[in-house]
Amino acid sequence: MKKRTLLSMAMVATMMATTFAGCGGSREGTTDTATTDDQTATEQTTDGAATTADMPGFEEGATIGVSLPWLGTQNWKEAEEMFTAQLTDAGYNPIVQAADQKVTQQQQQIESMIENGAKVIVVGPVDGSQLGSVLEQAKEAGVYVIGYDRLLENTSGVDGVVQFGSVKTGELQAQALLQGLEEQKGEAPYNIELFGGGPADPNAPNFFKGAMSVLQPKIDDGTLVVVSGQTDFTQCATQDWDNAKAQQRMDSLLAGNYSDKDIDGVLCPNDGIARACITACENAGQDIPVVSGLDAENESVEWVWQGRQYSTVAKPTEDLVAETIEIIDSLQAGNGMPSTDVTTNNGVIDVPIYELPPVVVTKDNAKEVFANDPSRMELLK
Ligand code: BGC
Repeated sequence: MKKRTLLSMAMVATMMATTFAGCGGSREGTTDTATTDDQTATEQTTDGAATTADMPGFEEGATIGVSLPWLGTQNWKEAEEMFTAQLTDAGYNPIVQAADQKVTQQQQQIESMIENGAKVIVVGPVDGSQLGSVLEQAKEAGVYVIGYDRLLENTSGVDGVVQFGSVKTGELQAQALLQGLEEQKGEAPYNIELFGGGPADPNAPNFFKGAMSVLQPKIDDGTLVVVSGQTDFTQCATQDWDNAKAQQRMDSLLAGNYSDKDIDGVLCPNDGIARACITACENAGQDIPVVSGLDAENESVEWVWQGRQYSTVAKPTEDLVAETIEIIDSLQAGNGMPSTDVTTNNGVIDVPIYELPPVVVTKDNAKEVFANDPSRMELLK
């Protein structure tokens, strides 16, 4: 049975979150020093949502394509499973594929979804800026395109993007790092290192930018010392989000800079990289530093609970998938894209953004955050 409650709870939550972001108000897990998401800078009130007349509906049972970048982190595996199950339950015919971090493979998968008559294609891009022409091809064929978790850049071939605030995520990671340092590592100054995600992923520079908006003033006033001196995103990025590459970089940072020093903290952009950095520090005989993360992966939720990883950030896949299916239902019914007040310029157009709020998780609030997530609650024992 297909549900078409346009203003679902998820949508109401999003609209509230959007309103809060627009007002610069603080939310749970943020502090007043946090700046609002950079999307507020480009945010504008918009009639961005196309009208119903522009966006004809399509038949029930239609084919829906979902193109994911890879299955290398838990969130993408969850997305693959949830889209397959929930689109099927909603009466659609899903084609869900992952591109193994390869741009060409993703372009080909999307082309074949168009050829197979998909009415909507949901895309988490390997490289945010490399899908322009295939997405424009989709638009010409009358296919709706929804970006999932990552922005689709430099293309007019996108109707909207569903994601968690990525600059906000970086701010939360940095705030947690500072909090953990104060709690666990005595008086400042603190020795830290910085890691970023895969440079092709549009989220990665935004996570880093959000984090640096919090950390840079503390570097400038001497509270934090980046002992390696590597503070540019390009120096800190981790190609393809590859945990092994992050671990290698951490190994060499430790060997080159910390033979006579303790490392107190590491800014990490996701849980896989967090665990890689913690392992490198343990291997080098360091005490475990305060480390941030992202995704609330099962293994990291356990590590947070054991005190081995200080924090993660929850961005529940079920909420993002539910939001996406809500939009697909609206398109199917001929109601067009739901309206939103947030847009981001992708280099070519102002893209409507459906933004959900990420939530920081430490040992202190884990039970609260996962109260409605029985499988993660199981890990808190
Ligand atoms: C996602 C993260 C994920 C990372 C690597 C990012 O775009 O937002 O949840 O950890 O990609 O897969």
